[in-house]
Amino acid sequence: MTSKAPTTTTEDDITAETIRRFEGTPDPRLREIMTSLTRHLHGFLKEVQLTEQEWFEAIKFLTATGHKCDDIRQEFILLSDTLGVSMVVDLISHRKPAGATESTVFGPFHRPGAPELPMGANIAAADKNGMPAVVFGRVLDVAGRPVAGALLDVWQANSEGFYDSQLPNADELQMRGKFRTGEDGRYVVRTTRPVHYSIPTDGPVGVMLNATNRHPWRPAHIHFAVSAEGFEPVTTHVFDSIDPYLKSDAVFGVKDSLIVDFQEHPTRDKAAEDFGMEPPFVTAEFDFVLKRRA
Ligand SMILES: [Fe+2]
Repeated sequence: MTSKAPTTTTEDDITAETIRRFEGTPDPRLREIMTSLTRHLHGFLKEVQLTEQEWFEAIKFLTATGHKCDDIRQEFILLSDTLGVSMVVDLISHRKPAGATESTVFGPFHRPGAPELPMGANIAAADKNGMPAVVFGRVLDVAGRPVAGALLDVWQANSEGFYDSQLPNADELQMRGKFRTGEDGRYVVRTTRPVHYSIPTDGPVGVMLNATNRHPWRPAHIHFAVSAEGFEPVTTHVFDSIDPYLKSDAVFGVKDSLIVDFQEHPTRDKAAEDFGMEPPFVTAEFDFVLKRRA
């Protein structure tokens, strides 16, 4: 006669067994990630005592997030941004020496294929209602020497707070351009003054923000991705110092070193002459400092 000892499987048994199954992972980094992911994910489930109904809601939410994505809409980046994940990864990944320009979120609105434009070109030709703006400065190394041949990839929402990909004619690239510095490292971009805008709330991320009583606003900014041969690239924003949402950015992207004053030029002055601008307009000066590759 055989007797079976009664067995009780606990939550902790499942956690331990799941971790054990990843022990044979050949890539040590993947093994570390899967083991830690299992430990934290199971820990979270046990901490909140997640119900089956809540789990199905989560599956539905993630499925809807995937369905919302296409070639130009990236709801998963938006989810990562609004959960603070993008900025934590950014801070872990980009420890810059003092003086180098700090990075911030890449965001969901970058599009490849923006045209390379002559220095000083206007990326906002189609944005008729915005306040004309000139953003200028230099690309420098940490020692303050100009970086020649640096590429600035610039993108921005229009004065209504929408990126081109959110407009009816979404195929048309607007408010974007690439600029390459000469020997003096200088750059000049004509655009319109950035405005604060709401991140898209017509998808699952909007449902999450609404259910948690969070606002969807991002403070006014212009995106820059700056790269040059021999240097670490930086993906960052330039923020307008008067924006009311600087302290509560929906995606946690603000860093003090990226906030600049936009100077107002209501009448004809030297800047109007220097930049060939008709008042009123604004100017913002910002130097990008790149760290040399090791
Ligand atoms: Fe943006």
